[in-house]
Amino acid sequence: MNVRFFKPYITGNEIKYIRDIIDNVRDMSGDAVYTRKVHAWFERRYRVPKALMTTSGTTALEMAVKLLNLRPGDEVITPSFTFSSTVNAILLANGLRAVFAEIDPSTLNIDPADIARKITAKTKALMVVHYAGVSVDMDAIMKLAKKHQLKVVEDAAQGIVAKYRGKYLGTIGDFGCLSFHDTKNITCGEGGVLLINSKQTVIHEAAEIMREKGTNRSKFFRGLVDKYTWVNIGSSYLPSDLLAAFLYAQLEQVDKIISLRRRRWDYYFKKLTPYAAKGLFQLPGITSGAEPNAHIFYILLPTGKQRDEVLAGLRAKGIAASFHYIPLHSAPQGIAAGGDPQALPVTTAVSERLLRLPLFSQITRIEQDYVINNLLKCLNV
Ligand SMILES: Cc1ncc(COP(=O)(O)O)c(C=O)c1O
Repeated sequence: MNVRFFKPYITGNEIKYIRDIIDNVRDMSGDAVYTRKVHAWFERRYRVPKALMTTSGTTALEMAVKLLNLRPGDEVITPSFTFSSTVNAILLANGLRAVFAEIDPSTLNIDPADIARKITAKTKALMVVHYAGVSVDMDAIMKLAKKHQLKVVEDAAQGIVAKYRGKYLGTIGDFGCLSFHDTKNITCGEGGVLLINSKQTVIHEAAEIMREKGTNRSKFFRGLVDKYTWVNIGSSYLPSDLLAAFLYAQLEQVDKIISLRRRRWDYYFKKLTPYAAKGLFQLPGITSGAEPNAHIFYILLPTGKQRDEVLAGLRAKGIAASFHYIPLHSAPQGIAAGGDPQALPVTTAVSERLLRLPLFSQITRIEQDYVINNLLKCLNV
């Protein structure tokens, strides 16, 4: 049997909405009918002052960091256990320094105690990543931010509709960034959204200008200026309305998609709990107050060697299990950015020991049992 690692859920309305654009000769460029629906969806459901769809989670992060308006030499504390985009966004913005912090060995999220140790007079912002859609300890983060007057960007790439103490991930710090890449719980192939949590219209306008090639075209579309012009340096961060149409169909059914995933996540958790209790591996830890979205199901094997053996064993049985992030602080670009490969032992060990199991909304019980049975066989149970 072959078990794939992920498979997007298709609602059926994606093609209907794309066809609507084609049949009615609607605008296909950005910020047309469906992009506006996506924005309204987030602004209503997430209660955020401003949501802007972007071409990816990566570009949402790049916009967020630029919008912090930091100065060259300023430091941003970030986990090393994340995707390159998180830290690229810091390094791409005007001479900022990324400072790598350790993760919590239970949730694999940035460790607020290590952040506290790394704060200096140059620290101006915290970049937190809600790994696997499980919230970071945001109370601790916001407390540190308040105490040291730091801005907070939430990389909620994996966190669609997941919550922390009743608030959606991405709505707690200054900016939130979500991804709709193919592998995410809902998708449009490539896409993202930037959530702006400040009510200040000057920030909303700066974001619109940055996203629209440095022009005030968004203001023009709203009839606020009679012609638009180049007013700042910017880029093109808005996706085609065809992608927004696809995404809107997914957003409409996000709760159904997540409840299907959750059932499957819970099944793995329940079936594997007795073996975790025997010390064969560690199951995912959930931050107190977090309501995750069943994005990733992972286990931590006791050693890296065992993880590699189990991964090879599962793959030999046609199961597309996977590892995850290779730590950034010890990657070539991480070292070039000042990372010390000897630092962050928890991050390094977790990366070596982590194994992700196939998880998607329509994985069958038979497939999950096949994964579980083979996992246990690999562990000689
Ligand atoms: C934590 C994290 N941040 C950022 C990204 C980048 O998002 P995108 O692929 O939409 O650019 C990803 C992965 O896709 C991610 O997992």
